[in-house]
Amino acid sequence: MVRTAVVSFALSLGAILAAVSMSAPQEAIAAKACKRTAFETKLVADACAKGGQGEAKKAMKAWMKKAKKQEAKLECGSCHSKLAPGYDLKPDGLQKFKDLGGK
Ligand code: HEC
Repeated sequence: MVRTAVVSFALSLGAILAAVSMSAPQEAIAAKACKRTAFETKLVADACAKGGQGEAKKAMKAWMKKAKKQEAKLECGSCHSKLAPGYDLKPDGLQKFKDLGGK
C-alpha cells in the first residue's frame, strides 16, 4: 500500500513538472519574433533567441548608449532606414555597427 502511494505521488509530481515545462515554449512564442532569421551579429542573434524583437530592441538600446561615447550623434536611424516592424538596415548599417565595436 505504502509503495503504491509513493509511486502515484511520483507520477503526479512528474505530471506537474511536465505541465510546467510545457508552458515555457508557449511564452517564447507569445513574444514577437525577430524579423531576421539570419544574423550577422551575436548581440542581435542572442537577444532574438532569448526574447524576440522586444529583447533585440532592448539590447540595441543598451549597446547604443555605449556606442554614443564614440559617436555622440548616433541614433537608431543612423543605421536603420526604417524601424518597426522590419528594422531595415541602411547599406552601411552593419559596417557602422562593427566599426563602433559591435559584435
Ligand atoms: C550602429 C548601427 C546601429 C544602430 C545605431 C542601431 N542598430 Fe539596430 N541593428 C543594427 C544591425 C547591424 C542589425 C542586424 C544585426 C544582425 O543581422 O545580426 C540591427 C538589428 C536590430 C533589430 C532586430 C530586428 C529584427 O527583428 O530582426 C532591432 C529590433 C533593432 N536593431 C533596433 C534598434 C533600435 C531600437 C535602435 C536605436 C535605439 C537601433 N537598433 C540602433 C545596427 C544598428
